[in-house]
Amino acid sequence: MGILDKHKFIETNASILLVLSFLVVSIGGIVQIAPLFWLENTIEKVEGMRPYSPLELTGRDIYIREGCYVCHSQMIRPMRDEVERYGPYSLAAESMYDHPFQWGSKRTGPDLARVGGRYSDDWHIAHLTNPQSVVPESVMPKYGFLKRKLIDPKYTRDLMETHRFVGVPYDDAMLENASADFRAQADPDSDYDGLLERYPGAQVRNFDGQAGISEMDALVSYLQMLGTLVDFSTFTPDASR
Ligand code: HEC
Repeated sequence: MGILDKHKFIETNASILLVLSFLVVSIGGIVQIAPLFWLENTIEKVEGMRPYSPLELTGRDIYIREGCYVCHSQMIRPMRDEVERYGPYSLAAESMYDHPFQWGSKRTGPDLARVGGRYSDDWHIAHLTNPQSVVPESVMPKYGFLKRKLIDPKYTRDLMETHRFVGVPYDDAMLENASADFRAQADPDSDYDGLLERYPGAQVRNFDGQAGISEMDALVSYLQMLGTLVDFSTFTPDASR
C-alpha cells in the first residue's frame, strides 16, 4: 500500500480516523500541559507589581466597558520593532492581576501596555474628549461624556471582593479602605499616606481637574499607571527559567 492509499484508508474509516485523531491530540495536549505540573510557578515574580488601587481598578472597568481593547492591545511582543516603539517587552507578571487580561488581538491604535507617563493628564483628557483635536487623522471615537459621569464608590469594595475571589491578593485593610482610598487618589489635599502604603507608587492627582470624581478621573488614573510599576532600569530577567 502506498502512503496515499494508507491515508485514504484512514480518511474513509470514520472510527479509525476518530481514534487516531484523538491519539494525536492527546499527545499534543500532554506535551503542553504535563510540564506545568512540575513547574513551581509559571509566573516569574517581579518586584513592583501590586494589585490595582480602587481608582485604577474602576478605570480598568471603564476601559473594558467602553471596548478600548477592541482597538488597543496591552502586550508588547519580544521583537525588535515592538521594543523600539513601545519599550521593554511585556512580562507575564505584569498581567497577573488582570481578570480578564487585556492583551487584545487587534491594533487599530497603538499598544497601551506602557502608555503610563508618556503624556500629561491634560493631553489624555483632550485626546479622550476629542481625539482629532490632537491627532487630526485619528479614527478613535470621542469619550468626553466620561467627564460628566461622576462615580459614587459604593460598589468599589464589591468589585475588589470579586477580584479577590478569583485570586487577587486584596487584604482586609484594602477592602475596608476601598472607598476612602478611591477618594484619596483623586484628591491631592487628602491624607493619602495609607493609600500609598497599600498601593506603592499610586499616582495621586485630580486627574480631570474638576470637582468630584468622574469616570474620566478613574480611566486616566488607570492609563497613567499602565506599565509604570516595574522598574526596568533595575529589572533583570531570571535566566534559570
Ligand atoms: C475605533 C478604534 C479605537 C477605539 C475603540 C479606541 N481607540 Fe484609542 N486610539 C485609536 C487610534 C487609531 C489611535 C491613534 C491615533 C490617536 O492618537 O488618536 C488611538 C490612540 C490612543 C491613545 C494614544 C496612544 C499613544 O501611544 O499615542 C490612547 C491613550 C488611547 N487611544 C486610549 C483609548 C482608550 C482609553 C479607549 C477607550 C475608552 C480607546 N482608546 C478606544 C483607536 C481607538
